[in-house]
Amino acid sequence: MSNVEIPAGLKELLQGYTVEVLRRRPPNLVEFAVQHFTRLLENQKNEQQARKSSSKPAAKEVTFETASNKSNENDEEEEVKETPKARTGRSRRVAVCAEAYDPDDDADDNTEPQVVHPKTEAQRQRLQDACKDILLFKTLEKEQFSEVLDAMFEVLVKPQDHIIDQGDDGDNFYVIDKGVYDIFVAKDGVNVCVGKYNNKGSFGELALMYNTPRAATIVATEEGALWGLDRATFHRLIVKNNAKKRRTYEAFIECVPLLNCLELSERMKIVDVLGVRTFNDGDRIIAQGDKADCFYIVESGEVKILIKTKTKAGKQDNTEVEVARCSRGQYFGELALVTNKPRAASVYAVGETKCLVIDVQAFERLLGPCMDIMKRNISQYEDQLVALFGSSDDLKR
Ligand code: CMP
Ligand code: CMP
Repeated sequence: MSNVEIPAGLKELLQGYTVEVLRRRPPNLVEFAVQHFTRLLENQKNEQQARKSSSKPAAKEVTFETASNKSNENDEEEEVKETPKARTGRSRRVAVCAEAYDPDDDADDNTEPQVVHPKTEAQRQRLQDACKDILLFKTLEKEQFSEVLDAMFEVLVKPQDHIIDQGDDGDNFYVIDKGVYDIFVAKDGVNVCVGKYNNKGSFGELALMYNTPRAATIVATEEGALWGLDRATFHRLIVKNNAKKRRTYEAFIECVPLLNCLELSERMKIVDVLGVRTFNDGDRIIAQGDKADCFYIVESGEVKILIKTKTKAGKQDNTEVEVARCSRGQYFGELALVTNKPRAASVYAVGETKCLVIDVQAFERLLGPCMDIMKRNISQYEDQLVALFGSSDDLKR
């Protein structure tokens, strides 16, 4: 036996099956093996497909779009970019609207065997780092989160790879390990760059959540790495969890004054993508001057907002002055997202505080209708600052 070569991966394959058997205790081991290995094969194909599509060269035909509708001078979001022409008429899935879709109806999900992609210790560590701030995972139970990590697989990308093309069917959800990715959305047949992911974040959840065609094109601008999660596992763990999230947060979201201007289905879409973070007394939630990537709504507890004062010479000293407090149902952290500037104040938890968190992409996509209310409140910040410091220059800069 000493010269028998054991094929690479055999041990992990059998281990994966054994773990599943011990976990699920199926009555018929052979039947379960067929299901388990068929599932693995499907995932392998998905993975190959993902690699293939991620190495698709950018389409040759290009269109140009000028950024005309944003006045902000450091607004790199909607910029002039050479982009592949929008593809149309490629969607095969029937769109299902958010309010009509009830994941609890999908009994099949419970019979799906668990997907495990073996990883080295170093890979697992990188995966854990990449996933620790992913909002969609924040409301999962520990065991569900660990199943998600098991099922994720690595996708290496090259510059100009199209990870997702708008209009396609959704195969995987992606978490960014590293790399910069442009987001293009087709407007009147032209792809416009509406933002970018810079070495963190996730994308590709919408088509899987709502059974709709891909809503944007995602293109790698440099070499990078992603972690993919297949559609079936995303459904079984994340979409099912969203049904629970909707039940938990529906009543609360209804009484957030800012969100009154949204339709019920729009409010539920916010619930689907939000994460939850808890803070202890004194924890700094936002640091003045930092780059912003999310928006907060206080679910319980309280936060205080402090601004660094200035010396007579106009230099910032490090003394902080409290300018406001927010409690249940109130929001903060919108200013930097609206103005595309660094955080204008620091925010600290007062006692144990729980906040709902929405990332910048979801904020821009879902909170557009609330923009007028936010802008009105922002003008109140100016009044506050003038009353306190005699000027509101920091907000304007
Ligand atoms: P999905 O529609 O599955 O595939 C494209 C992804 O791009 C989408 O999910 C979102 O995760 C992400 N995305 C980022 N910004 C936008 C945007 N403005 N509109 C639509 N999708 C966006
Ligand atoms: P942002 O600048 O993103 O981060 C700090 C947040 O504090 C800011 O958004 C507002 O939501 C909030 N804030 C409340 N009052 C003020 C104020 N007077 N000036 C600036 N920010 C304020």
